[in-house]
Amino acid sequence: MHTALAHPLTRLKRVVQAMTRLTDQGLEEAALLAEAAPLMRGLVERDDWLPEALAQPHPEFYRQYLLHADPLGRFSIVSFVWGPGQQTPVHDHTVWGIIAMLRGAEFSQAYARTADGALAPSGPEHRLEPGQVEMVSPTLGDVHRVRNAFADKVSISIHMYGGNIGEVRRHVFDAATGQAKPFVSGYSNTMVPNLWGPTA
Ligand code: FE2
Repeated sequence: MHTALAHPLTRLKRVVQAMTRLTDQGLEEAALLAEAAPLMRGLVERDDWLPEALAQPHPEFYRQYLLHADPLGRFSIVSFVWGPGQQTPVHDHTVWGIIAMLRGAEFSQAYARTADGALAPSGPEHRLEPGQVEMVSPTLGDVHRVRNAFADKVSISIHMYGGNIGEVRRHVFDAATGQAKPFVSGYSNTMVPNLWGPTA
């Protein structure tokens, strides 16, 4: 019997619980990420739990649905839903982030400052497959452009960030000039999934 995992949201609830305990320890970023990355890898091991309402693409814009926000703003978890062919601008996060691929695939291209202050691609574009995770942070490299690997289907990654990412003040960049423009991403949903019902 696997009754403990019978409800699809139990998987997410357990990550929230483990991450809350972990955040309480006040670890340095590297130590925290070393513990948090396997939690996120576990979360995308199976694509059987994300509620349909939080997996919906938009015809024009990629979507970010809040799945859980720590009450003290120490971390948040979102589903990032790509419509076919969609991509982000070059952007930063200003907090650490763990990107875990759930469905489809995505490409991430890191950017770095050049001598004249522009932003240029740094290293090869990296393809993330289901079950894989990658990390960003001001320490590890925080500026990238990401795109759906597919022109004809939806891709979804689950992200965890070291803050309430929907209200973090961060930046998009004009790569040619390196000029930064402030932005706050917000969230696409007004309701979060109920992790606290008797069956979750
Ligand atoms: Fe990003």
